[in-house]
Amino acid sequence: MDIRLLKPSDIPLIQHANLENLPENYFLKYYLYHALSWPQLSYVAVDVSRPKKTPYDYPKIVGYVLAKMEEEPTDGVQHGHITSLSVMRTHRRLGIAEKLMRQSQLAMVETFGAHYVSLHVRVSNQAAIHLYRDTLGFKTEKTETKYYADGEDAYCMKLDLSSIREQVREAAAAENGEAEAKPEASADVDEGEAVGDVGRDPAKKKESERSGDKVKVKVGRGLGVGELVEKDESKH
Ligand code: ACO
Repeated sequence: MDIRLLKPSDIPLIQHANLENLPENYFLKYYLYHALSWPQLSYVAVDVSRPKKTPYDYPKIVGYVLAKMEEEPTDGVQHGHITSLSVMRTHRRLGIAEKLMRQSQLAMVETFGAHYVSLHVRVSNQAAIHLYRDTLGFKTEKTETKYYADGEDAYCMKLDLSSIREQVREAAAAENGEAEAKPEASADVDEGEAVGDVGRDPAKKKESERSGDKVKVKVGRGLGVGELVEKDESKH
């Protein structure tokens, strides 16, 4: 199984999976809007074990998560939103939905600095509620009555992303520490002859160069004001 970013060319397959698995369906342009506006946040699960019969074979997409950032958050807090998630019946209970969700949550933090992620779920959807509440740690904020077109209520759920933010911060700090340590570590490494010295007879090196002493060369202010003043050569 391969979990990878959603590509615009996957959209017809995502739409097909959505129609198979959920009563909440969307126009193709809504999927495209997600893919183009927040290309880092939506993922697909591809069954790579399926043999390709022709080069034109579609990838077998067995699950997807369609996610976005809230464009005008009412609470003023930058956060993500799960628009839709589903896994084909043939591939359920293998941990695919959990992986898709975790991947998207990480991307929300890394790319957009999201503080939390929200979603709506039908109050009767036991499988999804188990995934969100028990596996991933979402909390129910409130119940929205008659949220769905058929009159069913929705739980409005939220997951605080502080722990992921902390992990991302620690990983970045560790990476910066390594980058700062590198120049010191490489200071002793012999980088070979200076490029300008390639092919030069070592016996003809100046005394100062052979002894390794540094030679002081006067530049700029070191020359003294007098030497920097333009000379009037007309008198000579
Ligand atoms: N009943 C109870 N628990 C379940 C069920 C079930 N039918 N299915 C999965 N779980 C549990 C798993 O045991 C696991 O729990 P654990 O961590 O305690 O072991 C957890 O949920 C995660 O399981 P996954 O294998 O990652 O879930 P899966 O890949 O099977 O997908 C999903 C779950 C997406 C809910 C799937 O059943 C599905 O596609 N359902 C139809 C579409 C749907 O309801 N989508 C969510 C709508 S809400 C929205 O889109 C925002």
